[in-house]
Amino acid sequence: MSEEAQKLAPRAEAEPAERRYTFSPDLVTLTEGRPGEAEAVRTIRTHVIARHLNDGRRGLAICGPKPGVGCTFTAANLAVAMSQVGVSTLLIDGNLRSPGLRDFIRPEEPIDIRRQAALGASPTENVHSEVLPNLSILYADGMMDIGEELLGGGGFRRLIDRCLRDYEFTIIDTPPTSDSSDALRVASIIGYALVVARTNITRIKDVEHLARDLQEDGARVIGAVLNQA
Ligand SMILES: Nc1ncnc2c1ncn2[C@@H]1O[C@H](COP(=O)(O)OP(=O)(O)O)[C@@H](O)[C@H]1O
Ligand SMILES: [Mg+2]
Repeated sequence: MSEEAQKLAPRAEAEPAERRYTFSPDLVTLTEGRPGEAEAVRTIRTHVIARHLNDGRRGLAICGPKPGVGCTFTAANLAVAMSQVGVSTLLIDGNLRSPGLRDFIRPEEPIDIRRQAALGASPTENVHSEVLPNLSILYADGMMDIGEELLGGGGFRRLIDRCLRDYEFTIIDTPPTSDSSDALRVASIIGYALVVARTNITRIKDVEHLARDLQEDGARVIGAVLNQA
């Protein structure tokens, strides 16, 4: 068995009717082995509910200045944590060029690229509903070729508008801002951002720049997470 296959242990009880998923041990809100990290995510959840959701805001982009700070880790775990308290949650992989969500929650069947390509036209067709109770996911695999067109055009905005109507909470994992301007575009469309930094690695200057860029592009930064991986 490959190292990756070993890392992704199957969990039969989380199985929807027609699709099966494997969950990474790094999905600490689901697995029981890392209670300290799970508790930290639940603390973030408490703040997001109190300071964001309860004010009627339904969308949040998770943004980081560099690769590896833990954006996808935070997005995936926060989405699961929200779903666990009964919030109908949609988790979107906004990293169209290099999707990473499937490393945390992997569908056993390959993601259907043709349906993904129809995203702008019919977004909800591509959503994996009820991956876990109250948790749906929109993967980005196969979007690379049309990513620029999608992000630049009105397709992504239409998609987000639809998601904000259909789900109580929509959370978007974004690519590092050091690699492209995609995250800034995604965050400005959804309107709100949570910034992730990694202890002992991320420089304060980079967080400041990111927060400023987000605000300039019209996304309000609701807080920052210091990830101590
Ligand atoms: N708090 C954490 N505890 C354990 N592993 C973590 C933590 N944060 C991130 N990781 C791991 O570090 C790697 C990079 O994190 P990831 O979320 O993919 O970064 P990013 O999306 O910012 O590039 C992944 O393997 C992820 O599972
Ligand atoms: Mg990522």
